Amino acid sequence: MVNEKLLIKKAFEAQTYSYTPYSNFNVGAALLGSNGKIYEGCNIENAAFTPTNCAERTAFFKAVSEGQLEFEAIAIVGSKKGANEDEIEYCAPCGVCRQVMMEFCNPKPFKIFLAKSEDDYVEYTLEEMLPLGFSGKNFK
Ligand code: THU
Repeated sequence: MVNEKLLIKKAFEAQTYSYTPYSNFNVGAALLGSNGKIYEGCNIENAAFTPTNCAERTAFFKAVSEGQLEFEAIAIVGSKKGANEDEIEYCAPCGVCRQVMMEFCNPKPFKIFLAKSEDDYVEYTLEEMLPLGFSGKNFK
């Protein structure tokens, strides 16, 4: 069972560590592994721009680098630095992050929660967010 409120809370915690001197757009993610552990990630920007890493990929790469390869769900929050609660929108994962999810997640059951708060969130599957996704299965 996925505790989505806890996952969203952890995503907001992770967001506080965002390093975003260029966009001032702070994203936090909390990724639930099949081992029950939650891996948190924030976006990390760079003066050369392209080395910037999204919050979702930070969370995935932390998990994979610790040997966790199977996942159940991710919560994502994102907003301008200092945004008021009523200015917060749902923050959908970029295409690159969706493709990284595709590498490690079964697109039918993997859940993606986009949250404005612990009580206001929408839920998608990876299949809904990345229809006809390309993965290692294409090589078989
Ligand atoms: N960003 C994420 O962290 N995740 C996404 O899925 C969308 C974009 C970050 C990257 C950059 O630091 C900032 O948001 C503005 O694009």
